[in-house]
Amino acid sequence: MTRWLSRWWSGGPPAVEPASVRDAARLAQLHGASFHRGWGEGEFETMLTERNTLVHRLRQGRRVIGFAVSRMAADEAEILSIAIDSNQRGRGLSRDLLLTHLGHLAGRGIRTIFLEVEENNAPARRLYERAGFGVIGRRERYYKQPGGEHLNALLMRRDLS
Ligand SMILES: CC(C)(COP(=O)(O)OP(=O)(O)OC[C@H]1O[C@@H](n2cnc3c(N)ncnc32)[C@H](O)[C@@H]1OP(=O)(O)O)[C@@H](O)C(=O)NCCC(=O)NCCS
Repeated sequence: MTRWLSRWWSGGPPAVEPASVRDAARLAQLHGASFHRGWGEGEFETMLTERNTLVHRLRQGRRVIGFAVSRMAADEAEILSIAIDSNQRGRGLSRDLLLTHLGHLAGRGIRTIFLEVEENNAPARRLYERAGFGVIGRRERYYKQPGGEHLNALLMRRDLS
């Protein structure tokens, strides 16, 4: 009962939906809070109007609490970014978001999906592995941190049938 009440109060179960230009400011805010090189509102506005970019938002009630962005070319796509509001992480919400996003990519004729993930990003690696992605390469010292440290990237791939 308490769980039901708190769900009702927070706007019901989260929904994965296509994002629109009206979401650009909130998506930039979420991105900036999740990555040290944040994308600005203008970058999101551009992506949200490009035909080769697919953006989904995760909404709970009136609040957007996550997003996924992919770029498509022929029958391949690259997941450019996925993030969940830091207050909402660890609840398993990214899985629905990613699987729905992949379903829409499949619906657009995408057969192969690539992504890069920082080697030590355990939640993201786990998310992708559970969604069927496999490691196909490793890029040494690929990401430069603000403090000058370099971190390795893993290249992952999943084929959609
Ligand atoms: C990556 C991210 C989207 C995951 O979202 P989330 O909703 O918090 O993820 P979940 O709660 O579904 O957890 C994903 C998996 O990681 C596991 N996990 C969570 N924190 C972990 C940790 N610190 N160490 C190891 N595994 C962890 C969870 O148990 C879950 O695995 P399971 O399905 O086997 O139980 C979120 O952490 C995020 O926004 N991070 C910042 C942005 C980012 O790094 N994006 C990915 C860029 S490639």
